[in-house]
Amino acid sequence: MTPLNLIETLIGIVGPSHVLTGDDADSYEQDWRRRGRGKALCVVRPGSTDQVARVVKACSEHGVAIVPQGGNTGLVGGSIPDGSGTQVLLSLRRMIAVRAIDPQNMTMTVEAGCVLQSLQEAADQAGFLLPLSLGAEGSCTIGGNLATNAGGTQVLRYGNARDLCLGLEVVTPQGDVWEGLSGLRKDNTGYDLRDLFVGSEGTLGVITSATLKLYPKPAAQLTAWAALASLEDANRLLGLAHRRAGASLTGFELMNRFSLELVDKHYPHLRVPMWREHAWCVLIEISDAESELHARGLLEQLLENAFEEGLVADAIVAENLKQVHDLWHIRESITLAQTEEGFNVKHDISVPVSRIPEFVRQADAALSAALPGVRFVTFGHLGDGNLHYNIQAPAGSDAPTFVTAHEAAISTLVYDLVSQHAGSISAEHGVGELKRHKLPQHKSAVALNLMRAIKSAIDPLNTMNPGRVLESST
Ligand code: FAD
Ligand code: MLT
Ligand code: ZN
Repeated sequence: MTPLNLIETLIGIVGPSHVLTGDDADSYEQDWRRRGRGKALCVVRPGSTDQVARVVKACSEHGVAIVPQGGNTGLVGGSIPDGSGTQVLLSLRRMIAVRAIDPQNMTMTVEAGCVLQSLQEAADQAGFLLPLSLGAEGSCTIGGNLATNAGGTQVLRYGNARDLCLGLEVVTPQGDVWEGLSGLRKDNTGYDLRDLFVGSEGTLGVITSATLKLYPKPAAQLTAWAALASLEDANRLLGLAHRRAGASLTGFELMNRFSLELVDKHYPHLRVPMWREHAWCVLIEISDAESELHARGLLEQLLENAFEEGLVADAIVAENLKQVHDLWHIRESITLAQTEEGFNVKHDISVPVSRIPEFVRQADAALSAALPGVRFVTFGHLGDGNLHYNIQAPAGSDAPTFVTAHEAAISTLVYDLVSQHAGSISAEHGVGELKRHKLPQHKSAVALNLMRAIKSAIDPLNTMNPGRVLESST
């Protein structure tokens, strides 16, 4: 059977307007960071689970590899095809139905291609909160969020995507449909297949639908912005916030001076507060079950205590909802500002919160000694011990040349330190293409062998996103 026969079969399943080739496939073949471009045999856009199953079955029968894709906002190069022109890119973006909302069970069942923001809005309209929130929420899909086990800015209270998922519907590499759309909070009937597919980055099957947990909407959400002198102070403030606010603490984000300087430089209209005079800023979010007045009282008391303890140098509490959004917008603009500044080296790492100050001190010192003038874009989800420890080329140097010459050495240094601090080299973005060669040094042989055994049991022909997470030869 030739590739052309397969394309004809796929056209027969989804219709001619949903099989794209040539220029029409272009935007699906470019990764978000512009670090790589692939070439697909074709892009196929099924509109239902049945169509996904038939597409996967046809590809499996032809021995053709499939790369599932949602919003294509992934940051580890796992959502685009390789350069061979032989892989089928399977886009889920037409599967956008909210199949059901069960108010008493506090769940929603949705299709994989739903954009995260549209689901937050659907939950809101139904009187609930879907507490998954990330900078890419306007374009990433829930299927991609689950496939990468996305984190974001509310993990310290609600957990990551895995914690919000009660059930899945998945098309297996053979084209069978596993109907696991349970809304159950308790089910101990053997191995947890749901947890196997969550975080599998398209290497075990195609997620077509999910049942998600919903939460009561808080009466008020309020945000404070505080400036601090050191990471030790940031950690102490985090501890204080946990103690004072308890479960009302829903966000604690950290930003270093240079990350805010980049936002100020590229988006001056955002009016970044306090960045010039202070080494670190944090954004604290309180979600209050009572009222805005109560939330304000809590935040003001927290900051007053922090001032008394000498932890905070300056602080503001948002005066209204617009200011809340403006402050979050600054935080969420760091990634784009860094992209505007030029090529950079990204690390999405986690270490125990207690070890963050030491990790940053050691990594900054070692990199500054090895590569004088490098600039540190250090920000992220301090409440989860998850930093985006990113490196920008020295001012005035050619960023692409710098990255090509030094990326491997920089990342080796950073990841070795992460391991010394008992951390992870991928906290929330996944492994994809970019980090798979690092796994053997940072995961035990036992863990890797178990992962390989799972992969070959579920996908013996290695047609599901081959070469991502695990090397293809394994
Ligand atoms: P894609 O990029 O399309 O795919 C990602 C991976 O999942 C690929 O391996 C793909 O093959 C697989 N996949 C996609 N859909 C399916 C499916 N239906 N079935 C099986 N496999 C599938 N991530 C965080 O965790 N936290 C953040 O705070 C965060 N902030 C971000 C901010 C910006 C500005 C950007 C650009 C990205 C950010 N990300 C963040 C990364 C990214 O948004 C997440 O990884 C997101 O979950 C990817 O969703 P997607 O739909 O775009 O997936
Ligand atoms: C974030 O928290 O903003 C992200 O995960 C994106 C990034 O690392 O650039
Ligand atoms: Zn993040």
